[in-house]
Amino acid sequence: MNKITVKGGNRLYGTVQISGMKNAALPIVFASIVTGETCIIENIPLVDDVLKSIEIIREMGGSAEFIEPTTVKIDTKNFVAGSSPDDLACKIRGSMYLLGAELARSGETVLKQPGGCNIGKRPMDIHMKAFTALGADMDEGDDYIRGKVRDKLRGANIYFDFPSVGATINAIIAAVTAEGTTVIENAAREPHIVDVANFFNTCGANVTGAGTNTIKIHGVEKLHGCTYAIIPDMIEAGTYMTAVAATGGSVTIEGIIPKHMESVSQKLIDMGACVEEGDEWITVTSDGHLRGIKIKTMPYPGFPTDMQQQFGALLCLAEGEGEIYESIFEDRLRYTAELGKMGAQITVSDRTATFHGVKKLTGASVRALDLRAGAALVIAGLCAEGKTEVSGADYIYRGYYDFVPTLRRLGADISEDKYATHIYGD
Ligand code: EPZ
Repeated sequence: MNKITVKGGNRLYGTVQISGMKNAALPIVFASIVTGETCIIENIPLVDDVLKSIEIIREMGGSAEFIEPTTVKIDTKNFVAGSSPDDLACKIRGSMYLLGAELARSGETVLKQPGGCNIGKRPMDIHMKAFTALGADMDEGDDYIRGKVRDKLRGANIYFDFPSVGATINAIIAAVTAEGTTVIENAAREPHIVDVANFFNTCGANVTGAGTNTIKIHGVEKLHGCTYAIIPDMIEAGTYMTAVAATGGSVTIEGIIPKHMESVSQKLIDMGACVEEGDEWITVTSDGHLRGIKIKTMPYPGFPTDMQQQFGALLCLAEGEGEIYESIFEDRLRYTAELGKMGAQITVSDRTATFHGVKKLTGASVRALDLRAGAALVIAGLCAEGKTEVSGADYIYRGYYDFVPTLRRLGADISEDKYATHIYGD
């Protein structure tokens, strides 16, 4: 099990170049299946989950080769639907997008239940509702999800009880070549949904309204290949912004879209950090002394649930009381117990965590329970007295590339005990 060791107390200074967004790259890699042609995807993040998605494409008959360090050329002409490798599909949440892609490409799908961080039940009922409305018979078992298109996929009006990110994207993937028009009401509005829509439109699709809660898809006969660059990762950016706010110092995050960071930037300002922004960069400056605030996670453009745990680390040492209400996932507060091992004073009741700021945290051996929790524990270690060992760092590598070298370059006293992670197709 990979381990990261941090010795706290150093301030962070310098610049960070942000990678492509993991949660945009995962759907776009699988969406390329619908074209059946060659797609060149640029700004691919070299994080483990995305590398696994590329491996899945290869194991299903597609070809995928890196033609530049972060550019992958994917040809799905010889893709074989229904052949997804269980051992990989069950490890990442992103494999859920194979459902929409296979239904669109071949009219049937069979998929091992997707993996993903253990932050709640993560049902697929909204996805099933969308596929059924579009004309597929779906069967979800404990192990596998199966689907078969009755005749052909036909446009439908679909209302989502909850603006699910995954279900919104899956519905778009299934609808782009369906016959007729699909309208998704109460759709999720995250930037990565806009990215998927833009990718498909670059391939000749007709998707409008992405980024609003009503998305319209006019089905087209055929899509063609394309060249497309993934948007920058707002959560990776927010994680480094949070780290420097916690340790003190000044770090400029480059290659980002500041608009995507609005709620995160505002919360850092509310806590007392200084945030300046340009067209494609944000500089966070902090003396490390912050004040407690209240946070409620919400669908975009609200405060992102994927930044909740990093802010939990911040609130441990913030002056006064802080509170986090996690409205998206019912089991995303377990990391607070790990912070407690470092001396944090946190009480949790149902979906609410209340933080009583302490003067100091003390280094300890803690465990990453999921991807963002792992990043949060590293941030806490950067501010703690003494040494913190974060085990389960594999979780962190699922969503962050070069996390430890980047923090070390910014001045952190940090190291990793990591088995060489094979970069697929390098
Ligand atoms: C995506 O998960 C992201 N994962 C998550 O990021 C992110 O936290 C989440 O969106 C919310 O932004 C990927 O993109 C691979 P949802 P997803 O469907 O699509 C409920 C990270 O750290 N729901 O928007 O699974 C669900 O239980 C990861 O990068 C249903 O009830 O999220 C949850 O409570 C963690 N039925 C809520 O909706 C469904 O059919 C939000 O889930 C689907 C979801």
